[in-house]
Amino acid sequence: MTENSNRETDFAFVTLATTDSYCMGALVVGQCLRRHRTTRQTVVMVSTNVSSQARAALGHVFDRVLVVDVLDSGDQAHLSWLGRPELGVTFTKLHCWTLTQYSKCVFLDADTLVLCNVDELFEREELSAAPDPGWPDCFNSGVFVFRPSLITHGRLLEHARQHGSFDGGDQGLLNTFFSDWAVRDISKHLPFVYNLSAIAVYTYLPAYQEYGHNAKIVHFLGSVKPWNLRSNSQTNQHTNSHLEEFVYQWWMEYSYLHHLIKTMSHQEPAVPSQHAGPKQHVRRCRIDSRIFLITVYALFNITTCKTKLWEEGQVDYLGKDAFDNIQKKLDRFLYL
Ligand code: UDP
Ligand code: GLC
Ligand code: MN
Repeated sequence: MTENSNRETDFAFVTLATTDSYCMGALVVGQCLRRHRTTRQTVVMVSTNVSSQARAALGHVFDRVLVVDVLDSGDQAHLSWLGRPELGVTFTKLHCWTLTQYSKCVFLDADTLVLCNVDELFEREELSAAPDPGWPDCFNSGVFVFRPSLITHGRLLEHARQHGSFDGGDQGLLNTFFSDWAVRDISKHLPFVYNLSAIAVYTYLPAYQEYGHNAKIVHFLGSVKPWNLRSNSQTNQHTNSHLEEFVYQWWMEYSYLHHLIKTMSHQEPAVPSQHAGPKQHVRRCRIDSRIFLITVYALFNITTCKTKLWEEGQVDYLGKDAFDNIQKKLDRFLYL
């Protein structure tokens, strides 16, 4: 995780985290970009309330950790239609347009999982994005290509003041600002595989079976995020085996990173205690990170052998397959 001096400095991937929980997601975004050898810069915007431990962990993974002011729409009426009262703070995303030291950027929500190198996204122009699975004439603002500009930033803030946002978050605002996206230029429509929502996998499984193997970025859109899935997976009816696989993949990246940061810096990366995830008080164990990775993936394969049973609907969420139990196995396997 050393600074890569060969990185092209003009382009950057950007993400955002205003809480320590979303920092867990941002860590995985940065880690996956590195794993897949991006040649671009990586930037994470954080707000002042993000803990110093979380910022330090992000500093191991990203080229830049940038502190920004929280911008909140405060629009509870529209947010309640979205069913996500907490998303007013997504207006903070708009600050990405102030990153004018880069000529072009790709924004990635902190709840995305990058599955391969996606540097080709920089060939696209502002504003390129994939259709939203719920309302395809709108783009989803979890993944988009943009050009930083203080003029655009100012116009976006003015647009927010005058018109607000129809969903109370950045997506409603950006869609009315870049209002010709749906009809003007098809090259600005990113293929859906760059923003594959887990929800879409559930609602249109045949298309997923046909095209899913080309997935490049998975987006855990919705209130259930991988970092809190343990508690939700026991009650959520919408989980399916494909989603489970992506969630496992997310946890494998997170666990790997958690261990790597710990052994490199002798510090605990921020993992709020109410979340699922690697045990915080494991015995400090210095094993070579490559061996660690191999063991994690070996275990990953062992646990995903259960997929068949899961596909047949024989998931024992509260018993032997409960995330807690799988996590305990992971901890035992790695640390005892
Ligand atoms: N976000 C954040 N803090 C919050 C809520 C959201 O930093 O409290 C950021 C984060 O980057 C997140 C993005 O805003 O990925 C959009 O929110 P979310 O992904 O939860 O929305 P969804 O994609 O589920 O609609
Ligand atoms: C969405 C997008 C997310 C955005 C939110 C609020 O569904 O996935 O990126 O922040 O709506 O507008
Ligand atoms: Mn998201």
